[in-house]
Amino acid sequence: MASKIKTMEKDGLVYWEIKDHTEMKLKVIEAYSNLWVFILSKYNTITIYDCFAGGGKYFKDSETFLDGSPLIFYKSLIDNSERLRDKTKLVLIEKNKKTFNNLKKSFENEGIIFTKENYGIKGKLIIQLINDNFNIVIEDIIKTDRNKAQLFFIDPFGYSIDFDIFRSIMSLPKVEIIFNFMYSHLIRGFASPHEKLTNQIDRLFDSSDWEKSLLMSAYEKEDYIVNLFRSRCKEISKFVFPYRICDSKSSRTYYYLYHLSNHILAAIKMKESFASKNFGKVEYISINQDQITIMDNKEIQNSEIEEILFRKYINKSISFEDLVADNIDETVYFEKHFRRVLKDLEKKGKITIQRISSKKNGLGNDDLITFKQRE
Ligand SMILES: C[S@@+](CC[C@H](N)C(=O)[O-])C[C@H]1O[C@@H](n2cnc3c(N)ncnc32)[C@H](O)[C@@H]1O
Repeated sequence: MASKIKTMEKDGLVYWEIKDHTEMKLKVIEAYSNLWVFILSKYNTITIYDCFAGGGKYFKDSETFLDGSPLIFYKSLIDNSERLRDKTKLVLIEKNKKTFNNLKKSFENEGIIFTKENYGIKGKLIIQLINDNFNIVIEDIIKTDRNKAQLFFIDPFGYSIDFDIFRSIMSLPKVEIIFNFMYSHLIRGFASPHEKLTNQIDRLFDSSDWEKSLLMSAYEKEDYIVNLFRSRCKEISKFVFPYRICDSKSSRTYYYLYHLSNHILAAIKMKESFASKNFGKVEYISINQDQITIMDNKEIQNSEIEEILFRKYINKSISFEDLVADNIDETVYFEKHFRRVLKDLEKKGKITIQRISSKKNGLGNDDLITFKQRE
């Protein structure tokens, strides 16, 4: 794969050509990383692991150069440097020697000096570069720093990762994963006659259930596979949301960014970060996706949300926080949508709200919502 990437050399650095879906992915990573560092560094020592780090730099045209994920994480950390605690870490893992050297140089250009063991320091931040195979070094990494707040970005070209790795990572107490699930590569692998590949797919899903999709239509297959992987992830993570990213030329799915977290605020903020770069949507189809569709119609959204909520909670009571937690990764909607619909339903007399943590017209986390019998 890597050999197919167009490159450009400038001032001794190699830049990879950026595609629009990669640019958008990196914008989302930047938005979320800024929030993650800001929020988590208040009460925690933090570590970010960029597990498939890449070479550090991209070019868009002969005059436009962009940072890859390692420098994006680095800049989020530096921008929040007064909040960071001692031993904050950014760990960058890259297997390919040439790509690794390029990555190192892109950090040296930022003024970082590395030791022989590839450690660099900037204020309270330790930058560790590892020229190795993520699948091999990860088990040792997990044993260190168990109590820190940790964010893992897993962004391979393919799908050579075992589900056991996700299981080990999610066993850490304060952890999140953003995983690039390479759907388009995976379905090509489904058709492979090579046992080595199909065994790897078994290990990614930790089962051979994916084979049930082989005779399905393209649409059914995608739905089945995305939900199959999501349901595996739900066994190890409270909140799991797959953000769809298309190849803008064909509008076909290229990959999904899966976000795994155990904290509702993380699920809410990742959704908002993604949507903030995608015209309020939780998928990226093309650079022209700012056109309004029928699904953007408020009335349609409101009636769909009302349906979802009454189906689940008729004759029941639930706090606002639990309602959002129940629905944030099950639907495409945001906290603000649920808030809007609930206030509207209250006005129409379809629900009652017992205000516990908010004033007269607000809607706070502990407020108790009761869904009445429908007439
Ligand atoms: C998609 S690129 C990463 C792009 C980078 N995350 C970014 O957004 O700028 C994947 C990188 O993973 C590296 N890689 C492939 N297999 C690896 C492995 N097993 N362990 C660590 N790095 C690996 C490749 O050499 C490549 O540079």
